[in-house]
Parts: sequence; C-alpha cells; structure tokens
Amino acid sequence: MGEQNFPDNVIYELDNLPVLRGMNTETVDLIATDPPFNTKRNRSGSAGFYVDNWKWGDTGILPDQWKWNEVHPIWLEEIKDENKALYDVIQATRRCHGEDIAAFLCFLSVRLLEMHRVLKPTGSIYLHCDHTANAYIRMCMDAIFGAKNFRNEIVWRIGWISGFKTQKRGWIRNHDTILYYLKTQKAAKLFNKEYIPYPEGYVRRDGKPPTGKGIPMEDTWNCNAADVLDSIMIKSFSTEKTGSPDQKPLALYERIIRASSNPGDLVLDPFAGCATTPIAAHNHGRRWVGIDRRKDARFHVVCRMLGIKKEEAEAIRARPHLTNWIDKQLAKKDSHYRTTPPVRTDEGETAAPILEQIYPADNRSVFSHAEMHKLLVERFGLLCWGCDFDASLYGDRGARYLELDHINPRSAGGHNHLDNRALLCSPCNRDKSDRMTLIELRRKTMGGARNARKHRIDLREASMWCRDRLMQELRKT
Ligand SMILES: C[S@@+](CC[C@H](N)C(=O)[O-])C[C@H]1O[C@@H](n2cnc3c(N)ncnc32)[C@H](O)[C@@H]1O
Ligand SMILES: [Zn+2]
Repeated sequence: MGEQNFPDNVIYELDNLPVLRGMNTETVDLIATDPPFNTKRNRSGSAGFYVDNWKWGDTGILPDQWKWNEVHPIWLEEIKDENKALYDVIQATRRCHGEDIAAFLCFLSVRLLEMHRVLKPTGSIYLHCDHTANAYIRMCMDAIFGAKNFRNEIVWRIGWISGFKTQKRGWIRNHDTILYYLKTQKAAKLFNKEYIPYPEGYVRRDGKPPTGKGIPMEDTWNCNAADVLDSIMIKSFSTEKTGSPDQKPLALYERIIRASSNPGDLVLDPFAGCATTPIAAHNHGRRWVGIDRRKDARFHVVCRMLGIKKEEAEAIRARPHLTNWIDKQLAKKDSHYRTTPPVRTDEGETAAPILEQIYPADNRSVFSHAEMHKLLVERFGLLCWGCDFDASLYGDRGARYLELDHINPRSAGGHNHLDNRALLCSPCNRDKSDRMTLIELRRKTMGGARNARKHRIDLREASMWCRDRLMQELRKT
C-alpha cells in the first residue's frame, strides 16, 4: 500500500486530473463517482427531471462537451502502446458511435487510468453512468480494470416521472447504471451485504413470521416498494436539495459506501459535485477526498455537514468574509480544502501521460515551418528524434540535415501545431513516411516498445515543452 500524501477529509476545487496525478499510488479504499455525461447541454437541469439553474457561482462550469480534434495525439499514441485494448475501444467507438463520445471517453479514460492507480489492491470503484455512453464506458472499464474484475451493473431507477416526460412515445427512460469493479480479486472479500426490511405483514411461505435480516439487496435499486431509497425527484422537496442540477440522493451513495468500505477507510469522489459522496462517507465514519472543478465545492461540504438549508446557505453566501466562515466551519469538522494538487512522494509514474490540449487543433499553426524547425533545434539540439542520430557531426550543415515532420501523421488526424512536431534525419523521415507514428518508427529503429523509453529525447517532456511554448505564443496574439 502507498503512503497517503494528502490530508483526510479534504475537498479540492480543481480539475481532478492534476489532483489524481498528485496522489500516491494505492492510497484509496473506495471510489464512488458520477462523471459528467456528455449531454451536450449546459449543466443546468442536466438531470432532466426538473428545470433548475445552477445559481451558486458559475465559475468553472463548462458544458458537457468534448471534441475529437482536441484530444492530444501523443496521448492516443501512448495508450496504443500501453493499453491497446483501451485504444481499440476508443477507436471503435469513434467509428460506430461518433467522435464526440470517443473524445468523451478519452477525457474519462485518462482519469480512470489514474483512479485505477490510486486504488489499493483491496479497493473497488462504483462508476455512475447514464444511457448516453454506458456501453462504451463499460468497455473502457474492462480495458482498464480487467473484465474479470467486473462485479455488477447496478440499475438505479431514478424515480417518479411526471409532466411532459410521460408523454414520450416509446418506453420512458427512468434509470442510470452504476458499474461496480474491483481493483483486484483481493477486493472481493470486502462486501457488507445489505438487506431490505421485510414489508409489513410479510409471512414466509410456510406461514411462519420472518426471521433474519430482511430481503438481500439485488442489483436493481429503488425498483420495488420495499426498497427504501428515495428518488432524486422526492429529494427536490427535501432539505437535502442543494440546487445543483445533477445532485444524487445521499441514500444511494450511503448504500455503496456501507457495502464496499469499512469505517475508517478512505473514500474518493473525483467528480464530487455538491459533495454527496463526501457527506455520505462522513455520515458513516469513513475518511474522504472530494474533487470538483466548481469553485464552490467546499461550500457544499460545509453547508451539508452543518445541515444548512438551501435558502439559508444562499443567504450566508451573500455575506462578506465567506471564505473565513467556511474555513472556520471546515476546521471545526476537521476538514480541509485545497486549491493546489498534492505532490507525489512515492516517485512513481502517472498512469497516463501529462498532456492536455486546450487549443483548437484545426487552427493553422501559429509558427511558420521555419520557426518550428528553429525552435526545436534550439531547444533539443541536432538530434534525430527517431534514431538518435547526432547531426552535429555535420557541423553547421547539421540543422539542414534534420527535417521537420509530424509525430502523429496527418493521415491519422495529426495536426500541424508545434506539439505534434519532431525533427527527423532523412532516412528516418523516409522510413516513417506519412503512415507511421513516431512511436512506431522508434519501435522499428530501436526494437521493442520498452526500449522506446530510453531515447535521448523523451517524447512526453518534449511535447510538454512544445505545448508550453505554443501557449506562450497564443497568449501573445
Ligand atoms: C454529474 S455531476 C456529480 C454530481 C454528484 N454526484 C452530486 O450528487 O452532487 C459531475 C460533476 O463533475 C464535475 N466535473 C466535470 N469535469 C470535471 C473535472 N475535469 N474535474 C473535476 N470535476 C469535474 C462537474 O463540475 C460536476 O459537478
Ligand atoms: Zn533518424
């Protein structure tokens, strides 16, 4: 097990990727999370059951949209190298469903790779999905966690449908699925079975009164009268409601936490929203970490821990010195918030490359061909990125011997920007042509994927530098 390098009971107001990457390997007992669903709508009312706007500060709220051309080529390359099954799932999705869902899978997969890494061997994950992508997400999960570690697909019946939804021609959609995977088979031992109390007047077939704990819980939840979970719609009238459009019922997450963790365990939710998982964990004596890029993530933790109602909370929010107030309340509950990611102390590698593309890839390159060539020579020297050939042997003419090429070829969707560029000697450039990626070329010239890491130019580092340089230039214009 890893050494925990972050505090207990902490909420990070950040993108979860750098936070997950900053967490030491094998430090988490349970992940229960509910990512955004690629609804292509703004978040407000995205649960679809009531129209509600997210009112408490909208900073950092982005619509659920992902574009294929913003997926980083090197990321896909590395996935292809290290998890071919995941790469194939993403490519197959791209072909059979479309680029948006494929891009969403990329967004999610980088994060799932890190979640897998931070889980202890005895840990497990519950991933909440709606109908838009669940079939594809399950295949990604199989690729990352292993199909043998799949345990259940839980069907959560969302509940009470009314209004125009009932008018729909066809079956009314009324469930989400929750995928339950183990990190390893060791995790199978940790399961605290749940029971539903017998309904009033229940008699056994033999006529005797029931003994025992109740009816063992199945994999369909909130589907029968005896299942005591309330629906999210019912919650909209209750004190539990925070105003967040995609809030899930506390009871749902409490059930998951009771079943698949023990008191004192660490529960993580990287898409914490208004902190349903942290609060559920807190209620059951578990330690917790929540992450959400919404700027008011910590506010929810505080209000829900203190049982402050939505209207009251909004009034408090309007008051000055809110930050101080929140800090004090968190301290009282021995909880924390952070706006910077933790720093790894186990010196291990991240599970996915540290790259993210944040500019539109279909733009024309901001640098000219000659400028890119010059920049790369100045920064990385006169080395061929394919075979490590040192062109400084040719003295001043060395630079002319190196040609500017694409890391991921144009024919495979590679773009023209600096972070998809490499310097190649002429023989390498000829070998690579317009079909091979740089990683494939490296494998061919040096033999074997493992060796590809020992090149004099580290592609991850080079690409990060190029991206920084590019962003610097973009900020100028
Ligand atoms: C479906 S909601 C989670 C709702 C939560 N289960 C609840 O009950 O409140 C998804 C959340 O993920 C957050 N989110 C989306 N992308 C994120 C990212 N890259 N890093 C951190 N949080 C993110 C959104 O801000 C949103 O709050
Ligand atoms: Zn070469």
